[in-house]
Amino acid sequence: MLQKINSLKAEIEGLTASSAAEAEELRIKYLSKKGEVSVLFNDFRNVPSEEKRVIGQALNELKNFATDKINELRQAAEACQASAEAAALDLTRTPAPMPLGTRHPLKLVEGQIVDIFARLGFSVAEGPEIEDDWHVFSSLNFAADHPARDMQDTFFINREPDVLLRTHTSSVQTRVMEKNQPPIRIICPGRVYRNEAISARAHCFFHQVEALYVDENVSFADLKQTLLYFARQMFGPETKIRLRPSYFPFTEPSAEMDISCNLCGGKGCSFCKHTGWVEILGCGMVDPNVLDACGIDSKRYTGFALGMGVERITNLKYQVKDLRMFSENDRRFLEEFQSAR
Ligand code: DAH
Repeated sequence: MLQKINSLKAEIEGLTASSAAEAEELRIKYLSKKGEVSVLFNDFRNVPSEEKRVIGQALNELKNFATDKINELRQAAEACQASAEAAALDLTRTPAPMPLGTRHPLKLVEGQIVDIFARLGFSVAEGPEIEDDWHVFSSLNFAADHPARDMQDTFFINREPDVLLRTHTSSVQTRVMEKNQPPIRIICPGRVYRNEAISARAHCFFHQVEALYVDENVSFADLKQTLLYFARQMFGPETKIRLRPSYFPFTEPSAEMDISCNLCGGKGCSFCKHTGWVEILGCGMVDPNVLDACGIDSKRYTGFALGMGVERITNLKYQVKDLRMFSENDRRFLEEFQSAR
C-alpha cells in the first residue's frame, strides 16, 4: 500500500497541464469520487489495524499533495492564458474611427442663408405649418378667387374652422406684423406644403426662407442692395444679379431675381439653359393692403419682402439634380456633405 501511495505521488509530481481544462481533467482523474487517489482511500478498509496510522497519514498527505499540485497547475494555466490574451491586445493601436453624422444639406444651406441675413440685423421668426386661410392667403392680399387657393395647390384639412397646410412662409410675415410694430426685420425659415405629384422637380413638401423689413422710408434701393449682398455672400463676390418685373399679390411692385450662373460664370451652359442667368427668388415692396391688414399704418411705413426655396439654392450650390434625394435619407447622398459647413 505504501508503495502504491509513493508511486502515485511520484506520478502526480510529474503532471503538467497546458490549460485550465486539462487541469480539470487531472482533477477528475485523481481526485473525483472514482479517481485514483479516492480508490486508495477505499482500499484503506483492508489495511491491518497496526498499519492504519502510518498509511492513513500517508494517504492524507497524498490527497493534500494532489489537491495542491492540481490547483497550482490550474492557476498557472489560467495565468498563462490571460497573459497570452493580454499580449494579443495592442493598447498602442489607434482606435477604430467613430462614424460621425452629417448635417442635412437643406439645413446647412438654410443656416448659411439665415447667417447672411443675421449679419444685416435680421432675426429669425417662425410660425406654424398648420395654418388658416387668413394667414396664408387673405391677409396677404390674395383675391377670393386666386388660383393659389385652388384644391390642386393647397392641402386643405378642414373647412369650418378652416385649417390648411401653409403653401409658403409668407404667412409668418402676417403673424409677426400682427403682433409687432415696425421696425421689423425678420428672416423666416420653414417647411411648406403643396399638393403636387412627386417628381425630380417637384415635391409635396419643400423649404423656404422668407425675409421681411418694415420701417419708415424703406425703399426699393434697400431691397436691391440687400439682394446683392445676399447673392455675393452666398455665391461668391463675382456674382451679378438682375431683377425682372413679376407679380405677387402681397408685393407691389414685385420682381424675380436671377443671379449670373454660378456654374459657367455667366458664359452660358446647359445648367442655365445657355442664358447665363438662373432664377433664385421672388421679392418686392410690401403691398400697402398687407400692412393695413396686419395693423401697420401704410401711410407711415413701407417695407420689402423676399422669399426663396432652400432646395433651389442647395441645388445651385451643390448640384443636386433630383429633389427626391433630399427626403430619401440615402446615407451615400447625405455623407457627401461630410465636410460642408
Ligand atoms: N411666397 C412666394 C412663393 O411661395 C415667394 C415670395 C415672393 C415671397 C415674393 C416674398 C416675395 O416675400 O416678396 O412663391
